Amino acid sequence: MKKEQLNELLYQALETELGGVQVYTTALRCVVNDDLKEEWEKYLEQTTNHVQIVQDTMAKLGLDPETETPGRKVVRHIGESLVKSMEMALESGEPEAAQLVAAESIVMAETKDHLNWHLIGEAAAKAGGDTAKALKEAHEEVEDEEDEHLYHTMGWTRELWIETLGMKAVLPPPEEVKEVKTAIGAARAQHARTDML
Ligand SMILES: [Fe+2]
Repeated sequence: MKKEQLNELLYQALETELGGVQVYTTALRCVVNDDLKEEWEKYLEQTTNHVQIVQDTMAKLGLDPETETPGRKVVRHIGESLVKSMEMALESGEPEAAQLVAAESIVMAETKDHLNWHLIGEAAAKAGGDTAKALKEAHEEVEDEEDEHLYHTMGWTRELWIETLGMKAVLPPPEEVKEVKTAIGAARAQHARTDML
């Protein structure tokens, strides 16, 4: 295990979660659908907790959460860009369009977040001693929530787009109804959507 790069992963993970709080806060200004609003409120609360979890993990590993790295700056830049995208959509004054931009922004943010946590899980399995213990504890706490954030929002994004195209949408999306927590489950839910129309 390359310790420096594991540290980099954790700095990026923290920055992703911090950006996630901003992304969800802005997305909640864009949301129109009441069920989705409830989902995103829950995800915002969980993401705020993930910030704390990464900070606690860093403390256990003796890392300073304020440490700046070039990679972390890139993650911050992407988060800020997603927030700006939603603000642009809000300014255009079309609520349904802004909601779509928000949903897409969350999918982009959560794709990175999901990757981070997957890698933290992989590292936890290979690391030793206190590092493994700290990573494992954090990973176990967030894993299921990260799966939901990504796969359920992907479902929402697809169905809301379908609705705006004037076609019949499955709302809430099958990913949410079937409580999907895996990529295979998400593929199955998407495949089964026509049966739910
Ligand atoms: Fe997260």
